Amino acid sequence: MDKKIDWYKRAVVYQIYPLSFMDSNGDGIGDLQGIISKLDYIKDLGIDVIWLSPVYESPMQDNGYDISNYQAINPMFGSMLDMIELIRMTHQKGMRIIMDLVINHTSNQHEWFKKAVNESHSLYRDYYIWSDKPTNVDSIFGGSAWTYDPITKQYYFHLFAEQQPDLNWHNPQLRQEIYTMINDWLDLGIDGFRLDVIDLIGKDVYRQQFADGPYLDQYLKELYETCFQGKDIMTVGETPGISIKRASEITDANDPKLNMVFQFSHIGLDEMPGQGKWAIKPVNLVEMKDVFINAQKTFHQQGWQALFLSNHDQPRVVSRYGNIAYRQESAKMLATLIYGMQGTPFIYQGEEIGMTGVDYPIADYQDIETLQIFDILTAKGWSATKIMEAIHKKSRDNSRTPLQWDDTHQAGFSTGRPWLKVNPNYHTVNVKTDIENPHGVYQYYQKLLKLRKQNDTFLLGTFDIYQKDNKQVFSYFRKYRNQQFLIVCSWADSTIEFELPTTKYHLLLSNYETVKTYHHTMVCPPYFACVMRIED
Ligand code: GLC
Ligand code: CA
Repeated sequence: MDKKIDWYKRAVVYQIYPLSFMDSNGDGIGDLQGIISKLDYIKDLGIDVIWLSPVYESPMQDNGYDISNYQAINPMFGSMLDMIELIRMTHQKGMRIIMDLVINHTSNQHEWFKKAVNESHSLYRDYYIWSDKPTNVDSIFGGSAWTYDPITKQYYFHLFAEQQPDLNWHNPQLRQEIYTMINDWLDLGIDGFRLDVIDLIGKDVYRQQFADGPYLDQYLKELYETCFQGKDIMTVGETPGISIKRASEITDANDPKLNMVFQFSHIGLDEMPGQGKWAIKPVNLVEMKDVFINAQKTFHQQGWQALFLSNHDQPRVVSRYGNIAYRQESAKMLATLIYGMQGTPFIYQGEEIGMTGVDYPIADYQDIETLQIFDILTAKGWSATKIMEAIHKKSRDNSRTPLQWDDTHQAGFSTGRPWLKVNPNYHTVNVKTDIENPHGVYQYYQKLLKLRKQNDTFLLGTFDIYQKDNKQVFSYFRKYRNQQFLIVCSWADSTIEFELPTTKYHLLLSNYETVKTYHHTMVCPPYFACVMRIED
């Protein structure tokens, strides 16, 4: 094993969405003590780093991505002492923990914004973005990005909900305050950050340049030099609006800014191009291959990326790219596909047992984006059926339902009534049932992650697609020094045949117990996946 590789490249990360992970006190809301009680579960999966979605003080309009005080813990999750205990216990179990850093905007309940609104001459006024006249920009959640403030008679800018005013990164004093806050958290023992929509901080609102704006590199560099440089931490930026090339530049270790990014080119492939996330289309597997070829090749040469298919904003991947009629098979196939690639694996809570999406009536949804889009699409004249179909497919609440721990009351998540309804399939889909099953998804994840850790080919190898035009099978080689792996992932819901490049191979892992081949032909049952070592 090559020892010089940075630890964050070898690490496997598990994302916790605190609201929905584990409730320790029966109020229906997941909390820090709940997380502490499940650290062994996470560790046993093969996890090195926990990423905690926001637990700061917040009015929770966007579930914590609207922060009203960066230096306090939201009492619904616990206290600062609980947070310190969580850091200590995570370290004690040999894992690290990173926090979510939301610095493109604050909550409108943040002290800075309250002062900015109440006093036009306040120093804090310039911490936000104001205009006498709104420009023609939509917020990402829909509706105008400008909201009128009747007190000071100007509009303020917000790329997300109106309760999330964007910070003005051009103000040097604001930047210093943010850096101090970040360093305070690092001093407390945090091992790094996931940086929320960080590609937006360099924007130029008046020239209508938002993601990857003209000041992005400058501010990222300053942030790096003031907070991250020389520290044993990891940073991962969320950069939904950036090209693969730019994402690789930002993470280039020769000119460091961030260790890695989430780039999203493979995520929206079920969306009609240019029509936003609600207009959906079937995935084209060949198109997906092109996207991955580009990303894998670019990052192989420069920078580093996170490998992910799910998070708290994306629908459950089994229901999206997989098939719930073959829930376990397709969950394992998708894991094989993504974690066989180069990058740092990220697993979103529940993905490791193949949790699925939900199709609730509108009254059961909580997500601000979902509720806003329901109104917007209704006003646009979409039929209720069509709207609900889109919401069932794409709502962020799909992945935010409580983690299903067992088949008891409320899936073992809470003794009370959960803030968001538990997925009714918890009787069959739950942690207890899954981990006890040697053919469950969890044990497959364990094997796959172990295989990755034991072979530097996954970490360092080249990526080459095999049978690019095959519309049913996504297959690729990973090659490093004299070792070569072939990964085969079928997206077909029936049994198909697949021509192998050789008959000399050794099977390392598969989601089916018996694998049938004759000569060069492999028989692939629905959603078949395997990893093999090529022997010649
Ligand atoms: C990111 C978060 C998302 C949030 C948005 C605004 O995309 O992941 O949950 O709503 O930023 O903070
Ligand atoms: Ca609780």
